[in-house]
Amino acid sequence: MTFSGLTPESVRKFYDRFGSLQDLQAVYEDRALKTLTQHSSFENAESVLELGCGTGRLAKRLFEEELGPDCHYRGLDISQTMVYLARNRLLPWETRVDIDRVDGTRGVALPDRSIDRFLATYVFDLLSPEAIQHVLHEAHRLLRDHGLLSVVSLTEGATLASRGLTALWKAVWTRKPGLMGGCRPVLLAEHLDPRCWRIESHQSLVAMGLLTSEWVVATPIR
Ligand SMILES: C[S@@+](CC[C@H](N)C(=O)[O-])C[C@H]1O[C@@H](n2cnc3c(N)ncnc32)[C@H](O)[C@@H]1O
Repeated sequence: MTFSGLTPESVRKFYDRFGSLQDLQAVYEDRALKTLTQHSSFENAESVLELGCGTGRLAKRLFEEELGPDCHYRGLDISQTMVYLARNRLLPWETRVDIDRVDGTRGVALPDRSIDRFLATYVFDLLSPEAIQHVLHEAHRLLRDHGLLSVVSLTEGATLASRGLTALWKAVWTRKPGLMGGCRPVLLAEHLDPRCWRIESHQSLVAMGLLTSEWVVATPIR
C-alpha cells in the first residue's frame, strides 16, 4: 500500500513553520515521556542520540534531571528551525551537545556500537513503514550491546473515546496529512522485529481521555 503521509521535504517545511508551537504538545506528551525516561536508565548513559529532537525540550529535562556529568548528547532534526531552537535551549550544556540538521531516514554518520541510548519521541508516527524500518536498522547498528532504544509515538486508541478520535484522525490524515502535522497513530511494538530487539518495557497511556501514546524500551539482539 502506498504511504499517504508527508514526504521528508514536506515534514521539514511543516516543522520549520511550526517551530516552538511544538512545545504545546506537552499537554499530552509529558506523562508518556516521563514514564519512558523512567524506564530508560539515562543516568548510566555516556552517549545519547535523539532523532527528531524538536525544540530540545526533552533533552533539557534530561540534562537537568537524569544525565550524568560526562554524558554527551547528539540531537538530529530535519528542520532548521528546530535545530536553531534546540541549540539555543541547550546552550548551558553546549560543550556536551551537538545538534545537526539531518534527515534521519537516510542514515546517521556515526560508527557502529557508538551510542548508549537511541531516543525518538513522536517521530515514528510521521514516518512511512519503510522509513521506520530503516531508522530501526540504524538504531540497531549504532547501539552498544547493552544500549537501549527508547521510542514513543501516537498509537491506536485504548478507550472507546480515544478509538473514535483515532478513527477520525486517520481519516483526516489519509486525505490531508498536513492538517495533523503528518502524524498518525502507529502500533510501535509491531515494528520491532523480535529477532533483532528484545522488548524490556512497553506501555500505552491515554492523555486527556483521548490521545493514546505507546512507548517501548528495547535492547538490540546480536
Ligand atoms: C512531532 S515532532 C516531535 C518533537 C520532539 N521529539 C517532541 O517529542 O516534542 C517531530 C520532530 O521530528 C522531526 N523529524 C521528522 N522527520 C524527521 C526525519 N526524517 N529526520 C529528522 N528529524 C525528523 C521534525 O522536524 C520534528 O522536530
